[in-house]
Amino acid sequence: DGEVYKYYSEGEWKKSSSGKSVAIINPTTRKTQYRVQACNQEEVNKVMEIAKSAQKLWAKTPLWKRAELLHKAAAILKEHKAPIAECLVKEIAKPAKDAVTEVVRSGDLVSYCAEEGVRILGEGKFLVSDSFPGNERTKYCLTSKIPLGVILAIPPFNYPVNLAVSKIAPALIAGNSIVLKPPTQGAVSALHMVHCFHLAGFPKGLISCVTGKGSEIGDFLTMHPGVDCISFTGGDTGIAISKKAGMIPLQMELGGKDACIVLEDADLDLVAANIIKGGFSYSGQRCTAVKVVLVMESVADSLVEKVKARVAKLTVGAPEDDSDITPVVTESSANFIEGLVMDAKEKGATFCQEYKREGNLIWPLLLDNVRPDMRIAWEEPFGPVLPVIRINSIEEGIHHCNASNFGLQGCVFTKDINKAILISDAMETGTVQINSAPARGPDHFPFQGIKDSGIGSQGVTNSINMMTKVKTTVINLP
Ligand code: G3P
Repeated sequence: DGEVYKYYSEGEWKKSSSGKSVAIINPTTRKTQYRVQACNQEEVNKVMEIAKSAQKLWAKTPLWKRAELLHKAAAILKEHKAPIAECLVKEIAKPAKDAVTEVVRSGDLVSYCAEEGVRILGEGKFLVSDSFPGNERTKYCLTSKIPLGVILAIPPFNYPVNLAVSKIAPALIAGNSIVLKPPTQGAVSALHMVHCFHLAGFPKGLISCVTGKGSEIGDFLTMHPGVDCISFTGGDTGIAISKKAGMIPLQMELGGKDACIVLEDADLDLVAANIIKGGFSYSGQRCTAVKVVLVMESVADSLVEKVKARVAKLTVGAPEDDSDITPVVTESSANFIEGLVMDAKEKGATFCQEYKREGNLIWPLLLDNVRPDMRIAWEEPFGPVLPVIRINSIEEGIHHCNASNFGLQGCVFTKDINKAILISDAMETGTVQINSAPARGPDHFPFQGIKDSGIGSQGVTNSINMMTKVKTTVINLP
C-alpha cells in the first residue's frame, strides 16, 4: 500500500514481509505523520549478504568513478532539498530554513568527501628497510589504504540526513558498502536521501536502508557478524552498542554537556549572542549545544540580563513558520526536560522566564544560580533549557567542566588569548572553541568526543581514514 514507505534493499524499494509498520509521530501535531516498514531479521540478513558481495566489486571500481557517482548524488540531493526539508519539518520539527540548510550542507559534505577521498586515498607510502637497525636495503614496503567492508551507519534524529551522509560518503569513497538504519523520527527524510543515491546510479546492494523497531532489529544489526565497522551518533544506546559489538572499529558520538566559560574581560554581547545560537538553535537538540554556562560572578548579572533580553525575542511555535523554538522531538523527551526543570525549581534555581509547555513545545528557559546538587548541572536536557552556574575562579569552571562524564566540546570567552589557550588545554573535551559557541562544522574539521561523548574522530578526512585499514606489500630483494 502507498501509505507505508518502503525500505531499500538490492537497489529496490520493498515492503517488509513482516506486514508490520512503525508510526512516525509529528512532534508538532502529535499525530501519525508517516509510516515505515518494520523490517525483520531475515531482511537484515539479506541486506548484509548483498552488502558483502556488492562491496567486493565496489572496491575494484576506480576511485575516480566512485568520486564521480558521489558528486552526482550530491547534486541530486541539493536538487531535492525542498521535499526532503519538508519531511524534516514534519518528522523532527526542524525549523523550515534549518531543514533546507541541513540538506544543502549534506550535499556539500558528499562533494567534499569525494574530492578529499581521491586525494588521500590516491596516495600510499613507500618504505625502505635500512633505516631500522640491523637491516640492509633489501626490503621495499608499499602501503595503501583499503576498505573495511560493510559499514553499519546509525544516525540520530536531530540530523537524519546530514549525520547519515557524514557516514555514507566517507564509507563509499573508501570502497565500503553501507547498511543504513535511520532513526524512527527522521526515517522518511533518510529514505528520500537514499533515493538521491539510488538516482545517482550506485550499484545494486551497495547501499541498503532498513527501517524498523530497535527491539526487533537493533541488537541484531549491531551484533551481526557481517558488519565490519559501526558508525553511530546518538545517546546512551551507543554505550550499550560498544559493549556488545564484536572486534570491529567503532566510531561513536554520544552527546555532550558543552560548557561555556565566561571570563571577566569577555565581550558580553558576543557571549549573549553565542549563548542564544549555541544553546537554543533547534531548541537545544544538538550534541554540541551549549548545555551549561559557567560565568564569573562579577559579570554574571550583566550577562544574564543580556541573554534574557535576547531570549524574549525568540519566536516560539511551529517549524513550518520557521519559529526559533519548535516542539521537541517526542513527548517523552519533553517530559524528561520538564523533570530537570522541576528538580532545579525544588532545589532553588532562579527562573529567568516563566516555565511554559504546551504538548511537546517548551518555551525557552534560562535557569540562573544553578548549583552542582541540581540534576541540570550535569545532565543533558536536549531541549531549550539552559542552566547558568556562577563561578568565582577559572579553576572552578574547569573543575566543573572536567567533572562531567561527557567531553565533547566547550567554549571560552575572553580577550586574553593566553588565558584562552591555557583553559583550552585544561578542558577535557574533544574541541574547545575560543570566542564562539561549540559546533561540529565546518564539516572537514576534526570532530570528536572523549569520555562518554564518544570513540574516534570524525570530520571528512578522519572519517575516510577511519573507514579504511592499512595494507602493506613487502618486496624482498635478493
Ligand atoms: O548533535 C549532533 C552534532 O553532531 C552537532 O552538530 O552541526 O549542530 O554542531 P552541529
